Amino acid sequence: MSQRTGFPMKLKENVGLSALNTLGVCAAARFYMDVDSLDDLRGALAWAEANGQKILVLGGGSNLVFAGDFDGLVIRMRMASRRWEQVDGTGATLVLGAGENWHQAVLYAARAGYRGVENLALIPGTAGAAPVQNIGAYGVELCDTLLSVTALDLESGELVKLDNAECGFAYRDSVFKQSPGRYIITEIRLRLSRDKPLQLGYRDLEEYLGEAVSPDLDALAVAEAVMAVRRRKLPDPEIIPNVGSFFKNPVVPEEKFTELKSAHPDVVGYPQVDSVKLAAAWLIDQCGWKGYRNLRVGVHNRQALVLINHSGGTGQDVLELASDIRQSVQKRFGVNLDMEPGIVGG
Ligand code: EPU
Repeated sequence: MSQRTGFPMKLKENVGLSALNTLGVCAAARFYMDVDSLDDLRGALAWAEANGQKILVLGGGSNLVFAGDFDGLVIRMRMASRRWEQVDGTGATLVLGAGENWHQAVLYAARAGYRGVENLALIPGTAGAAPVQNIGAYGVELCDTLLSVTALDLESGELVKLDNAECGFAYRDSVFKQSPGRYIITEIRLRLSRDKPLQLGYRDLEEYLGEAVSPDLDALAVAEAVMAVRRRKLPDPEIIPNVGSFFKNPVVPEEKFTELKSAHPDVVGYPQVDSVKLAAAWLIDQCGWKGYRNLRVGVHNRQALVLINHSGGTGQDVLELASDIRQSVQKRFGVNLDMEPGIVGG
């Protein structure tokens, strides 16, 4: 080992990753480093470059599937910090280090009386991972409040600031997802408001709140309602390993939707401009997968979009199940499902 160039103090070899991915699959990193500062990050990258090691940046590990071991350097992003900027009568900017836990940051903002991210409570993962797939829930997406992302651009080696438009946000998509390996996000800025209207229109949320909807409702009450709704339908990754929605809701042309609707009048779709977003959960449910399980992996019994690692499943087990589900949805409805989490290793 000593002949490797400048082995940083914090670098470790052969580290198990099962506790570092919410699907809980067994995988190992050839090299591993916890990164708590920009200096750590630059040190880790310089070492990887000097030693010809590829890198993988890990946040909360809640949106990836390890298909096998990672033969390179896993950088665990832990840069944590919270601060306020530009506080005025109507709003404030919350600056979060990439390693901050997303859900704790949502509660922190809501408790301080600021609105904008309360509908995104209980989404697992870190602040730095949130822009990558433009997290969204209950009618709100991260891009609705995100002001800018600070990232290390590995092409130039410079720290850059991308404003909202430069992030190329779309449904579960961004420039960070489109150009994998180019940016390492170090900080995000959210523009929060004291008085913008709360978003309560999403069916599940509306039903839960019912009579409780009043002008007195605040961001924290909405965050708590979202937490209750999520807990009813979605498994807690601490108890039942999962990565949230395993597939994106597929977007199909209007003609395709009309065709589906005539064959399956109950099909669930949300109209977009010139297209319709289908509920993948409904398609999967109709194919009989909800609650399915084999020895190791399965499909959640209250939300068909969530795959579960019941007992010692490998990434391959999960990917095989995902492939079977995709094939049955394709065969029955002629619709292709795209995976939401990324596949790494192996
Ligand atoms: N449905 C079924 N069977 C099921 C579950 C749902 O038929 O097992 C039907 C429901 O009747 C409903 C429709 O499918 O009409 C949509 O279900 P739901 O409202 O639960 O939302 P979703 O489209 O399945 C999306 C996000 C979730 C987010 C929720 C709430 C995606 C891929 N998923 O799920 O995000 O929490 O809306 O806003 O966009 C995540 O990305 O990890 C995630 C959990």
